[in-house]
Amino acid sequence: MICIQSLGAIMPEAIEALLDAAFGVDRHARTAYRIRAGMHWLSHLSFAAMDDAGSLLGILQCWPVALRCGEERTHPLTLVGPVAVAPAQQRGGIGRRMMDALMAQVDAGAPDTATLVMIGDPEYYGRFYGFSADTTGGWDVPGPVERHRLLAKYAPCVMLPERGTLGPLQLGR
Ligand SMILES: CC(C)(COP(=O)(O)OP(=O)(O)OC[C@H]1O[C@@H](n2cnc3c(N)ncnc32)[C@H](O)[C@@H]1OP(=O)(O)O)[C@@H](O)C(=O)NCCC(=O)NCCS
Repeated sequence: MICIQSLGAIMPEAIEALLDAAFGVDRHARTAYRIRAGMHWLSHLSFAAMDDAGSLLGILQCWPVALRCGEERTHPLTLVGPVAVAPAQQRGGIGRRMMDALMAQVDAGAPDTATLVMIGDPEYYGRFYGFSADTTGGWDVPGPVERHRLLAKYAPCVMLPERGTLGPLQLGR
């Protein structure tokens, strides 16, 4: 049986090994890493998938980031990802279980962390969770991105500017 639990109890070495297996050891240069540079993942919005034997099969991390428009306007957002499932376990429902846990937590949480952004496959995150690249075309990111993979999911009643720059919530850390 697969159990979804808080990521906080998992050894950092195990998290890193799973991420290497899912994304490759060169993953640190990815743009998503630059968007959340210097931040620590959000413990209440990050999850692990474990099996009965205590093996780590999947992880989902979320980070505090912001969309900045000029010097003064900062819109806090939650960056979702990496979402990673151990290669041998992929397409068995673990990704959905972790994302479902995130969505339940987001719905129950504070509105200012309920707007989500991520770089991911729209065929997956759009199909199941309503993420879309429709409003992100004017957002700058600190690195290369395939525009159709820069996805957002808005909290109710939230509007974000058409133009801005994504980066860590606190600069210079
Ligand atoms: C992407 C990932 C998180 C999905 O988790 P998973 O447990 O493998 O997938 P699930 O079992 O939840 O998939 C459910 C459905 O989504 C489909 N699906 C899975 N990954 C998909 C993808 N990348 N694109 C489109 N559809 C996908 C599955 O085929 C399945 O469809 P079905 O219900 O019609 O059969 C996982 O495969 C993974 O870690 N991949 C490597 C890392 C990666 O590429 N992450 C994406 C960028 S963040």
